[in-house]
Amino acid sequence: MPSPFTLPQGMLLGCATAATQIEGGDTTHNWYDWCQKGHIKDGSSCLRANDHYRLYREDAQLMRDMGLEVYRMGIEFSRIMPERDRFDHEAMEHYKDELRLLHEYGIRPLVTLHHFSNPMWFERMGGFEHPESVQLFVRYARFVVEQLGDLCCEYVTINEPNVYAVNGYLFGEWPPGKKSLFKTLSVMKNMARAHVAAYEVIHAVRKTLGFAGCTKVGFANNYQVFAPARTTNLFDRLSARFFDRGFQGAITDAMVWGRFSFPLGLGVRKKGDYCDYLGINYYTRSAVRGTRHLTLPEVPVNELGWELYPEGIGMLCERYYKRYGKPVWITENGTCDAKDRFRTRYIYDHLKVLSTLDVPVQRYYHWTLTDNFEWAEGESARFGLVQVDYETQKRTVRQSGRFYSAIIRNKAVTEKMCGEYLPQAVSITEALPQPE
Ligand code: BGC
Repeated sequence: MPSPFTLPQGMLLGCATAATQIEGGDTTHNWYDWCQKGHIKDGSSCLRANDHYRLYREDAQLMRDMGLEVYRMGIEFSRIMPERDRFDHEAMEHYKDELRLLHEYGIRPLVTLHHFSNPMWFERMGGFEHPESVQLFVRYARFVVEQLGDLCCEYVTINEPNVYAVNGYLFGEWPPGKKSLFKTLSVMKNMARAHVAAYEVIHAVRKTLGFAGCTKVGFANNYQVFAPARTTNLFDRLSARFFDRGFQGAITDAMVWGRFSFPLGLGVRKKGDYCDYLGINYYTRSAVRGTRHLTLPEVPVNELGWELYPEGIGMLCERYYKRYGKPVWITENGTCDAKDRFRTRYIYDHLKVLSTLDVPVQRYYHWTLTDNFEWAEGESARFGLVQVDYETQKRTVRQSGRFYSAIIRNKAVTEKMCGEYLPQAVSITEALPQPE
């Protein structure tokens, strides 16, 4: 049966979101274009999403009522730079207003500058395939950070360059729909360069503004546990290591240390130290069989078929803390569960693993606050602690959302909470819907 536990000392908890997935109303970025071209499985469009650009005050109140301490939010690149040589000051004012509100409610913001979507002018020139993308992204980052001044100390430069590159340039399932390993690697490389350059500029700008003290800059990659499907098969074991290096190992070395080694490069470029925390987005474990990537048989999975593997979050925190020595921020962790049948247990299991580690895990941002536009899956994949009726935009806090609020309040899962929220669930498998 679930037993009580206490959260690590000083850990702050909140939620993470991304501009394109919640804001709605923007027709100037590549994801709007991708939706218009009919690539979304359920036919929905990010033009609607959660209408958060209009409803941000209500959403901030919701976060305050749920007791969030921290909030990771995105700024939409295309809203700030709708054209190559124009910054939109009105859009900037909008985000400043949102940030002021968060401060008023005692919620500390972490701002993501790039979360998968590009302005159309940037996409048309080749996005991060183009070497000039580095300088253009840095120009955008500088403007935002200068404008936000003391409203925000903490930044994620780029979210999941590994997922962005693989889905858009290897599998062709996301814009721009290409399928080339060479392009995938070159996009990853340019994104890592963009991070390194932005890291330096953000620190320099904040120093000039007199806010150097509290500044924290990092990135958030998607990290998975890659396991050999057949543990005794040498090929599977080597292949799992290869996947691990290609998807997450090499790019993390490049973004943390400026070291571009195989398969991103052959040597050292701009060696240094380019992150103040290590952002881990953790969802699942992947099995590798030969050159194929799959899910192990008979493991618990969510509605998208992703294995529910709470131990993995601990394994990755330990591994990367050992390698880079940076405090860990769980910048995303959550699951797709439309009926909220196992999300409560999922949160319990992942936080419990974190509570046992000998690693400074300083933040936990649950993915995500409200159901939102889940990229190629559209509106049907529901990751929210809060349920959304897209027709009316009504928000309703789920049981898992109430559980999460209670955790934040108590900085623990108490005996009483186990009885109230996890009465029957002995394990995550039992919490899952049973086959009919
Ligand atoms: C992304 C989010 C996404 C989530 C769930 C992460 O890879 O950063 O934008 O919604 O996973 O798929």
